[in-house]
Amino acid sequence: MAPAARHQKSRARAIYVLNGPNLNLLGSREPEVYGRTTLAEIGKSVAKRAKSLGFSTVFRQTNSEAELIQWLQEAGQNAAGVILNAAGLSHTSVSLLDAARALRRPLMEVHLSNPYAREKYRHHSFVSEAATGVICGLGADGYLYAIDHLAHLLKGQTA
Ligand code: DQA
Repeated sequence: MAPAARHQKSRARAIYVLNGPNLNLLGSREPEVYGRTTLAEIGKSVAKRAKSLGFSTVFRQTNSEAELIQWLQEAGQNAAGVILNAAGLSHTSVSLLDAARALRRPLMEVHLSNPYAREKYRHHSFVSEAATGVICGLGADGYLYAIDHLAHLLKGQTA
């Protein structure tokens, strides 16, 4: 296989796992709500699970809405599927919804907490309108279930 073709195929097996504002603080941020697992630990377990299912991961966090939108656009070119925890931006950002709609890849929305059991302003997510599925309230395990589902969906698909 030509090197270029190989490169294209391996990139298309990548699952982008994108995390929004304040998720860099996981572990110490409101542990009674979000648990004690750090984002680095989530990144490691997600990469391990994805690898066992034949996928690689691109795992990132940003506090910037613009950067998150940029990464979704990038995922549209490079990813087989996307897991997105847009954190507070889920509840506020029409621009993020627009980027998610433009993605044309399976998109799993994940929240560690269950926003529906929390303040009313967390009950609506713009991201959900473009999501293939939503997993919430299962803590860090939610990311693993999202990987499992994407792998199941993408199974048998070639780049
Ligand atoms: C969150 C839920 C959001 O409401 C909140 O703003 C977050 C984290 C979660 O993972 O539970 O920052 O997305």
